[in-house]
Amino acid sequence: MNIILFGPPGAGKGTQAYFIVKKYNYFQLSTGDLLRNEIKKNTLLGKEIENIITPGEFVSDTIVNALLKQAITKPEIKNKIIFDGYPRNIIQAENLKKMLKDDNQAISKIIFLKVSRDIIKKRILGRLTCEKCNITLNEFFNSDEIINHSCGKQYLKKRKDDNPQTVITRYDNYMKKTQPILDFYFSDKGFHEIDGSQKIEVITRKIDEILDV
Ligand code: AP5
Ligand code: MG
Repeated sequence: MNIILFGPPGAGKGTQAYFIVKKYNYFQLSTGDLLRNEIKKNTLLGKEIENIITPGEFVSDTIVNALLKQAITKPEIKNKIIFDGYPRNIIQAENLKKMLKDDNQAISKIIFLKVSRDIIKKRILGRLTCEKCNITLNEFFNSDEIINHSCGKQYLKKRKDDNPQTVITRYDNYMKKTQPILDFYFSDKGFHEIDGSQKIEVITRKIDEILDV
């Protein structure tokens, strides 16, 4: 079973993917993480990507689709993929369908985390991600977990694109280009909408109910 976690920036896609990975032995395929890994390699492509991501714009479909294709066909992750941050426009949604079909795979669940712009702003501006274990925390909501984090506080880092101006651009891009693909999935029998403004554990429980069936 492959899953799409869908929602605006800061909706909690990465947070919930982390729990699904732990509990069900799934593989998180975050296109944001793939792109950030490319930046870390310090290549020409990485530089190009950095110049696009930093102000909050979308990387071209050609670049993202190529990175995704390399990852998607690995036998060990087949039918155990959580798509996080992909697809992000209609072209990518069509491409995903075709790529999976060519590899005898499909999407079984589409989970939409619905959250308003006011809520995501605080979430994004307070986000810290551990470079070692990939857990996502928040300096406004998780002060104890941050102090006691088992990998060490020094590994908790802010993302370069998490600033007040970029949040607005990212949210606007989501509304303009990504939200319209809800029509693409809305009538799918695997489509589920969750109120993403609820507590993390409440959302996790709802996702468990959806995935356990
Ligand atoms: P990407 O990394 O995918 O970023 P995003 O879509 O903007 O989403 P985020 O990672 O910001 O949010 P999230 O939903 O994962 O929230 P999280 O769980 O961290 O993409 C980055 C960039 O790469 C894009 O802007 C674009 O430039 C490019 N890109 C990526 N994919 C692309 C594609 N397919 N095509 C083209 N370009 C692409 O949670 C956020 C915070 O909130 C955390 O601090 C967390 O602790 C907290 N939190 C989470 N849930 C809750 C809750 N229920 N209650 C309270 N706090 C919560
Ligand atoms: Mg994320």
